[in-house]
Amino acid sequence: MNFEFQNPTKIIFGAGSLVQLGEVVSEYGKKAMIVIGGGSVKRTGVFDKAVESLKAEGVHYVECADVEPNPRITSVVRGAQIAKDEKCDVIIALGGGSTMDAAKVIGAAAFYDGNPWNMILHGQEAIYVPTKTLPVITVPTLAATGSEANCGAVITNDDTKIKSFIQNPLLFPKVAIVDPELTVSVPQDHTAYGVCDIITHVMEGYFNGVDGTPIQDRFAEGVIINAIEYGRKAVVDGNDLEARGLVQWASIVALNGWVQAGVHMLAPMHMIEHALSAHHDLTHGAGLAIIGPAWMRFAARHRPERFAQFAQRVFNLSPKGKDALTLGMEGIEAYEAFLREIGCPTKLTEVGIGDELFEQYAKDAALVVRDEEGRLLGRPPMTTKDIVEVLKSAL
Ligand code: NZQ
Ligand code: ZN
Repeated sequence: MNFEFQNPTKIIFGAGSLVQLGEVVSEYGKKAMIVIGGGSVKRTGVFDKAVESLKAEGVHYVECADVEPNPRITSVVRGAQIAKDEKCDVIIALGGGSTMDAAKVIGAAAFYDGNPWNMILHGQEAIYVPTKTLPVITVPTLAATGSEANCGAVITNDDTKIKSFIQNPLLFPKVAIVDPELTVSVPQDHTAYGVCDIITHVMEGYFNGVDGTPIQDRFAEGVIINAIEYGRKAVVDGNDLEARGLVQWASIVALNGWVQAGVHMLAPMHMIEHALSAHHDLTHGAGLAIIGPAWMRFAARHRPERFAQFAQRVFNLSPKGKDALTLGMEGIEAYEAFLREIGCPTKLTEVGIGDELFEQYAKDAALVVRDEEGRLLGRPPMTTKDIVEVLKSAL
């Protein structure tokens, strides 16, 4: 497939790189808004270190605190108002994917007087496409989304229970300061959910992309193999800085566009998970651990050879005496066992979700990226009936 690739985000990677924050930010402005989540960065002392670095370079700051996991559009509205009132000229996103996503949309909303929800694709077309944004510097504290170096952001509308996204080159952060030391405090469960998110990002392209992408296949398999190896280590010992660093690098390369180049990635697992977390405020990676294997068992029947390749190359399973589907299913079993080993839920009942709203989730999942017949795009495309079947198998 023909493609264009451009990712302008500068990445400054390495333990201790947080000290460079002030110097980096001062290139873009003198009044920063620091966007943070529910307070983890204050408890760990990361916030104080960031402020110290800003002060040393004469950068003033205001705070936009309490961005919730699965960030709400209301937080974006609030953040944009602070940025306007305080005349901020640069935004620092200090936190996980939720904080970074909110910060990226806040940057664009600071130049827009309408409702920022208009920028979110919630029925195929966005009502408003942003044309200007404040420069955003990301400082991730959790390895998962890769938001620090991509141009996507996922926002939830609590009134309508729709969780959807914006993807626009304008939203690429200017610089990502990626310091694995900031992730050592991430608890075991969120570490594991992050690993699942990373793996699912490359899986979406690997299983839903076009044929004939052997180089991208090997990239994807490499990311998965390393995320499994070092993810396991990071879950067992949160202070293992080498493992933390490799997991964090995996999170960036998994969704900065490189592995997806020429693949034409579709993301049905994500669309179904977003529908679930919109209604239940579920952690994204935990939702993916449930939907992933269930969706894979559905999709393997349509494309068994690809799943057999996954089983063989990622889990070293022997093809001897097995047809492609049997081998593919064994690969899915092995993946699910890994998820359980690191502590992810793999069934809806484990997170207290029953079948009451299955039709609604299916409708919501197929709302965003769909074909003319209203099917959720993926390989294969899914009718709402297919989505309900997958959900049932995940109960
Ligand atoms: O809010 P605080 O107090 O900071 O606590 C957070 C939160 O409770 C905590 N945490 C973060 N860093 C920590 C830490 N706790 C201790 N030590 C640290 N160093 O972890 C919890 C989860 O944080 P959150 O930011 O919600 O997690 P994640 O990074 O997984 O982000 C999830 C959001 O990103 C979206 C998801 O849908 C979800 O809304 N996604 C964004 C994508 C993108 N922009 O490209 C793609 C993804 O597929 C995903 O959809
Ligand atoms: Zn994800």
